Amino acid sequence: MKIAVIGTGYVGLVSAVCFAELGHEVFGVDIDEEKVRKLQGGISPIYEPELEELLKKNLEAGTVKFTTDLAEALPDTQVVFSAVATPPNEDFSADLKAVFIVAESVAKLADHNIVFVNKSTVPVGTGKKCEEVIAKALAGRKVDYKIPVISNPEFLREGHAISDTMQPDRIVVGMNENGWAKQTMEELYVPLTRTSQPIVWMSRESSEIVKYASNGFLANKISFANMLSELCEATGGNVRDVTKGMGLDNRIGPRFLQSGIGYGGSCFPKDVKALIALSRETGVPLPLIQATHDINQHQRERYFKKILDALPAEGATVGIWGLSFKPRTDDMREAPSLDLIPLLTKAGHTVQAYDPVAMENAKNIIKQRGDPSPHSEEIRWCQSPMKAAENADAVIVLTEWEEFCNTDLTTLKLTMKGNDLFDGRNIYEPAEVKEAGLQYHGIGL
Ligand SMILES: NC(=O)c1ccc[n+]([C@@H]2O[C@H](COP(=O)([O-])OP(=O)(O)OC[C@H]3O[C@@H](n4cnc5c(N)ncnc54)[C@H](O)[C@@H]3O)[C@@H](O)[C@H]2O)c1
Repeated sequence: MKIAVIGTGYVGLVSAVCFAELGHEVFGVDIDEEKVRKLQGGISPIYEPELEELLKKNLEAGTVKFTTDLAEALPDTQVVFSAVATPPNEDFSADLKAVFIVAESVAKLADHNIVFVNKSTVPVGTGKKCEEVIAKALAGRKVDYKIPVISNPEFLREGHAISDTMQPDRIVVGMNENGWAKQTMEELYVPLTRTSQPIVWMSRESSEIVKYASNGFLANKISFANMLSELCEATGGNVRDVTKGMGLDNRIGPRFLQSGIGYGGSCFPKDVKALIALSRETGVPLPLIQATHDINQHQRERYFKKILDALPAEGATVGIWGLSFKPRTDDMREAPSLDLIPLLTKAGHTVQAYDPVAMENAKNIIKQRGDPSPHSEEIRWCQSPMKAAENADAVIVLTEWEEFCNTDLTTLKLTMKGNDLFDGRNIYEPAEVKEAGLQYHGIGL
């Protein structure tokens, strides 16, 4: 089947390459010329395990191609995926400009019937609005091609995106009509349904809600654990024991029931915010979602305060381990490091930062924002965790990369000047840290 994927970011690129791997002929379309040039040359613009190998393989086989020109991708295409970003506006609502631009562009260029599939995370009702945009553009051209709008939200996790796409738990498809569009979607996913990954069919509205509901629920689980962490700190409990004791109940489950510095990334913060905006817009109270957001903010702030309070008023050297919002990705969106580094540099501390893959992205973002403050020394970007720890008064773990979990704590102690280890992800055993001569600062312990 011939398909086009518009927007070749973390979701679109993975979808394009995986659909090619599954036997379809795929065109990836993006407005970012540099990104497309890289992709045409077999270079992945993002870090995602296994992605570049699959990209190269399918480019060589001619099953995936990339262009900046939608007109080049559309002829004979049966399905167009929109996978553009839907970032939060100032008022927390989802910015849908790119989604509507893509819908309109497809309608302006189509010369046959096409199934339009929204893969982006969009608030309920967006599919209907896309349909209106498409109808208007088609009417303007005085053509009556059929371009039904279908919701097919994406559930991949960065860092596991290829396996999540090739072996999804479920494929949610939301549409309000049957007929050829449904058959097209069935055919598209045959390579996955054949190996028993099920399609869950529902209305477009339900499908749009499923995605936000899933992310809202997972974020809520994290905030629940973080809420308990504060209670544990105040009462002598240990949040790791508490969440373990809860999570082994199979009605609850251990995943995402972990306390730490709070969630970040490109999805949870923005989707929780979009739900808050949707609550405002519809007048439907969503108090669990508001609490999820508030707890997350509070958790970050109170851990940052703990760090700043433990450091001298100025002039400390601080090693930062981990810059991306989670391991196995170079995605820096809403990463705690982007909030903490300026706080440290503004207070006159020197930061020595290390991340295995996200350093370039972090450097660019911090440069664009104008950080660090003029009072501080330049941030030192280090090539290894131990370089970042060299002569440091404190080391702060912000991302649970595997290499940090396996650190030799005695070597760390010998490398540092001071002895404060802030474990923002609760990856170490406090007793082992203390045994190495370090002061342990975890969360909820
Ligand atoms: N990143 C994730 O882990 C993840 C997981 C599930 C769902 N989602 C959702 O998927 C959507 C995409 O997220 P992402 O992380 O891939 O975003 P992204 O920012 O990485 O990628 C978006 C891409 O769209 C391109 N683009 C923007 N406007 C365009 C246009 N008019 N034509 C062609 N290309 C255009 C951009 O250049 C960029 O390459 C969002 O709605 C997000 O919420 C993301």
